Amino acid sequence: MKRRILSALYRADDYISGQELCQDLNVSRTAVWKTINQLKEEGYEIQAVSRKGYKILSSPDQITGEEVGARLQTKWLGGEIHYYESIDSTNNEAKRLAEQGAPNGTLILAEKQEKGKGRRGRTWETPGKTSIAMSFLLRPNLSPAQASMVTLVMGLAVAQACRELCGAEAKIKWPNDIVINGRKICGILTEMSAEMECINYLVVGTGINVNQQEFPLEIQDVASSLLSSSGEKTNRAKLAALCLDKFEEYFEAFLRTGDLSELEEEYNRMLAGKDSAVRVLEPGNEHEGISKGINPKGELLVELPDGTTEAVYSGEVSVRGIYGYIG
Ligand code: BTN
Repeated sequence: MKRRILSALYRADDYISGQELCQDLNVSRTAVWKTINQLKEEGYEIQAVSRKGYKILSSPDQITGEEVGARLQTKWLGGEIHYYESIDSTNNEAKRLAEQGAPNGTLILAEKQEKGKGRRGRTWETPGKTSIAMSFLLRPNLSPAQASMVTLVMGLAVAQACRELCGAEAKIKWPNDIVINGRKICGILTEMSAEMECINYLVVGTGINVNQQEFPLEIQDVASSLLSSSGEKTNRAKLAALCLDKFEEYFEAFLRTGDLSELEEEYNRMLAGKDSAVRVLEPGNEHEGISKGINPKGELLVELPDGTTEAVYSGEVSVRGIYGYIG
């Protein structure tokens, strides 16, 4: 009920009459009034003006299921939402829920992660109150070989959402970090449970540094937040919901063709270091070339000094001017 009222208030963007709320949600005036009061107690500022109705003026800065769910405009993503004040890792929780049969699109949100995971066994800090930690569960009819492209789809969604909502010059560091002015503001970790031929489920986990003002010493030189780069605070729930709206749209484009051919152009427009020198950190065969953008399979095309082009599938490519040679 709370989520539905909030959702109607956000959608209205102006006053919405009590009568309209009752009709839209098929509930009594008393129920609307009670829920509005409950929301006010939780920190929402809602103005009630006679003959006009209700208008939402401000919301508490939280990343709860209600706040994000009320803003979502998706068809299936976030159909079921689980929120935790604190959890080991939203990816771990998504996997646990997946094993218990949670449906496609289930979303897990957390204010804090005690054991946030990064790629390649690294850790990921989610101190609470300033960032977004979310994971969702997908049960796509895809082959395991197509899974890595899903991470690129999320990268594109986050970059677009940051641009649209915060006006940030967000770029994608292939395959899926989001950077602003060469510093990382978002990381994505996709985990998979699969058989030889088919995927049981995928968990796409995203961490976004939104309103942090400082970072631990070890990552100070490479990490940033939307706040540090734009100087303005961003509503985390709004940003999370927009990322998810965009992901659903792009993911459906991806499913139409089974590859990134409909998204390749947009991805390449936002690719950091395109047409610049990159170093391919292939174990035992590090070399340099010029980044030419991705192909429909999500591989990075690198033009080598002998004029040939290689398609880099995995292994980290570090982009000059972005992280130096650090992956
Ligand atoms: C990386 O760049 O190394 C990936 C970082 C991914 C972090 C997110 S935060 C939400 C989700 N839960 C986790 O434990 N990790 C991902």
